[in-house]
Amino acid sequence: MTVGQSTQAIAVLGTTFQNPILLAAGTAGFGRELAGTVDLEALGGFVTKAVSVEPRGGNRAPRVAEFDGGMLNSIGLANPGLRVVASEDLRWINDNLHAARVLVNVVGFVEDEYARVIEGLDPIGGMVGYELNLSCPNTSAGGLEFGADPEAVRRIVVRCRSATGRPLLAKLSPALPDVPGLAAAAVAAGADGISVVNTMPGLVYEADHPRLGNGNGGMSGPALLPVGLLATVRVRRALPDIPIIGLGGIRTLEHVRQYLRAGANLVAIGTAGLADPRLPERLARQWMQAHG
Ligand SMILES: Cc1cc2nc3c(=O)[nH]c(=O)nc-3n(C[C@H](O)[C@H](O)[C@H](O)COP(=O)(O)O)c2cc1C
Repeated sequence: MTVGQSTQAIAVLGTTFQNPILLAAGTAGFGRELAGTVDLEALGGFVTKAVSVEPRGGNRAPRVAEFDGGMLNSIGLANPGLRVVASEDLRWINDNLHAARVLVNVVGFVEDEYARVIEGLDPIGGMVGYELNLSCPNTSAGGLEFGADPEAVRRIVVRCRSATGRPLLAKLSPALPDVPGLAAAAVAAGADGISVVNTMPGLVYEADHPRLGNGNGGMSGPALLPVGLLATVRVRRALPDIPIIGLGGIRTLEHVRQYLRAGANLVAIGTAGLADPRLPERLARQWMQAHG
């Protein structure tokens, strides 16, 4: 059986995914960066790098630092901005991808920016929906992340809901005190699904200075596996019928199965694909062999 003919396609978020394995936001670019190396069409799909209204250069180098349990990154949401993404990246996606489903990861530094990104991209198409990266610092509220404030979450989702008929997922940090409560606030405001988890804040030193140019960063990789699984279980208990993308620390098919057992409909792989870009594709093929 070839890719695309699975009888086990996953119907969720208004479409079908040929398998549950996606690439996580920020680790797959906009797809075309990986196209020579990875068979994107073997995957369930991928989530793009975060898109903001204006282009962003990102944070000071070094931007990544490995440690025993995974890695820290402080990329700083570097991206070409919505105009370039609309004219170049979405065009490439529209022309080249048929089986893989694409979600666009969206960021804002003031609340209204999330919906402005969606308004700029939505007419171009190429995406099945949007993932709102609510771990972004709110520059109008002293840098507290939007996702930490249920009222800000509600306002952002309501505004984004009015900007598109496509599915919206709220992506939440595992460091928030009440992840299921914030997920419920997002869904009550019109979100169609939840992605858990984003990275966990962290810091590593080399001699007497932080190893990241930015000081602290987001922790991902193996140490995030139990954190992401617990967040997935908790969101699933709070929201029995809502699509969930589970992620954090996935490296094997057994990890994929653990997320599905915890209640995820789909999973995403980030850090493990940076170290071994073809690993997600291998897992997707194994999954389809086992379930096709
Ligand atoms: C280098 C890097 C860049 C990332 N960029 C984004 C991003 O732009 N938007 C986002 O929502 N998450 C971003 N993330 C978080 C991942 O999508 C994912 O939630 C996290 O890394 C946990 O999965 P993992 O343990 O499989 O890496 C990034 C992670 C890494 C490692």
